[in-house]
Amino acid sequence: MGRVEGKVALVTGGGSGIGAATCRTLAREGAAVAAVDYRLEQAEAVAREITEEGGRAIAVQADVRKEPDMQAAVGRTVDELGGLTTVFANAGINGMQCPIEEMTLEEWHATIDTNLTGTFLTIKHAIPHLRAGGGGSVVVTASVNGFKLFSAAGYSAYSSSKAGQVAYAKMAAQELARWDIRVNVICPGAIKTNIGERTYQRNLEKVRWDVKMPGRGGGQQGQPAEDDAGTLQRFPPLYGRSAEASEVADLVLFLASDESRYITGAELLIDAGFTLLRG
Ligand code: NAI
Repeated sequence: MGRVEGKVALVTGGGSGIGAATCRTLAREGAAVAAVDYRLEQAEAVAREITEEGGRAIAVQADVRKEPDMQAAVGRTVDELGGLTTVFANAGINGMQCPIEEMTLEEWHATIDTNLTGTFLTIKHAIPHLRAGGGGSVVVTASVNGFKLFSAAGYSAYSSSKAGQVAYAKMAAQELARWDIRVNVICPGAIKTNIGERTYQRNLEKVRWDVKMPGRGGGQQGQPAEDDAGTLQRFPPLYGRSAEASEVADLVLFLASDESRYITGAELLIDAGFTLLRG
């Protein structure tokens, strides 16, 4: 018996990174999975891999920024997989990182619309089906940026979108609790995925400067840093490495399963202590 046996999960951004790893993990533990992504080929590859291993999965092409797409994606999931119990609102981009005064409105919208509006639309259209099934679990991927970490200058649109996701998940948690729908938000640190493909940077040197924190070092993620005494320390402090996407998927599995039945409105850091040293 799998840990999410009999559940039906819709995963946005299911074609890559954290979303793809979560599709695989949920399917391995017994859920039927809809991998939703605007890049259909990648979602199809994930769904194919799952079905070849004996699981149940479909690929659905949808742009989380577009309401008709998300309405149709939820509809197809319910029709083809027989209901909806679990939603992972995860699709996201880093987008443009640059000084605020140089950011175009279009660049701002690209990040906010994908990360925040996409989460709103995903959950909005899932609610009637979660209610019809007697409840469910919703998990949102935010980030350490926008939750605990506000030192990445140039990330103004990204961090704002992620802070908005944290607030939105909490508002949804209190609103949907009456129908036994739980909503939690995860805040990952550095995860090895393909997010760099949708990351753009311009003139960051204008808004960044190095700060040496006493006794803390100033190393980049995954790199050792020197503290005041000149000793090397690991960053992040636990393991000194970025996470595999599957390690985040294990947290989503817990939140999707009934093991977390008393947890809602919670934000869960998954950062190996990243924000203990940098905030
Ligand atoms: P990824 O780039 O590997 O996967 C993201 C997926 O979302 C891609 O398959 C992409 O096609 C899809 N996507 C992007 N825009 C979309 C749209 N408008 N409609 C439908 N699908 C769309 O990146 P990753 O890292 O797996 O990102 C997943 C989430 O994790 C994002 O919300 C990201 O902000 C968050 N995150 C990632 C961290 C990291 O270090 N990789 C750290 C903290 C948060």
